[in-house]
Amino acid sequence: MAIFNRNSVNDTAAASLPRHIAIIMDGNGRWAKKRGLPRKLGHSAGAETFRTISRYCDKLGVEQLTVYAFSTENWKRPADEVEGIMNLLRKYLKDSCAQLAAENVRLRFLGDLEVLPQDIRDLIAQNKVISDKCDGIIVNICVNYGGRLDIVHAARKLAEKVKNGELDPADITEDMFSENLWTKGLPDPDLLIRTGAESRISNFLLWQSAYSEFYFTDTLFPDFTPDKLDEAISWFSGRKRRFGGV
Ligand code: FPP
Repeated sequence: MAIFNRNSVNDTAAASLPRHIAIIMDGNGRWAKKRGLPRKLGHSAGAETFRTISRYCDKLGVEQLTVYAFSTENWKRPADEVEGIMNLLRKYLKDSCAQLAAENVRLRFLGDLEVLPQDIRDLIAQNKVISDKCDGIIVNICVNYGGRLDIVHAARKLAEKVKNGELDPADITEDMFSENLWTKGLPDPDLLIRTGAESRISNFLLWQSAYSEFYFTDTLFPDFTPDKLDEAISWFSGRKRRFGGV
């Protein structure tokens, strides 16, 4: 386990570690169904896996982990399933208030957070105060997140500046656009993993994943262990990244 570790004495092994890993945590529902359990319990198991994986990423020296917890489209799910996921976020946030500083995790929430229940928004604000004092791994949880909405929000912000005469459209650059996304300041993901045997991006990090390496696995998210993450990182280490060059 952990062949690729930022703290490795072997330079090649350290260089092979992605700085930023993003995960589409798919397959919770099927994991539960296979066990005759309600889908909600699949998400609970997924939340436990998320904790294990985020601690493991920290141990490896991964700088950023970004997970897709709830998309702008997930509101279409049955009300009790949506409530179940919101309750998992509540629980995680409450536990995190006590643990974040000890674990030195910087927790961030990305997405249109204004429509979330007020108590969750308050917990996010409390966590931010604690997180801002930490300097360990950055864990980004995407909630009510959609890649298209992220781009539309950024376009609106720039359009507002053009309207106010603060910006000439000809001066808009890719970097400026990136700085107006919810992921402002984050490096783009090097490795984007999707569990659950689907090979699509489902409106996740559309702009940011332009040069990410995509790893699709049949493993359902609750079964995604640190060993499975090692397999993904090992696959990543064999990729030749050219970023459009030769
Ligand atoms: C997709 O699997 C998963 C989700 C829509 C929710 C993921 C949420 C969590 C893992 C919990 C988040 C909590 C924290 C604390 C980060 P699916 O339901 O579409 O699975 P299926 O394709 O098998 O039905």
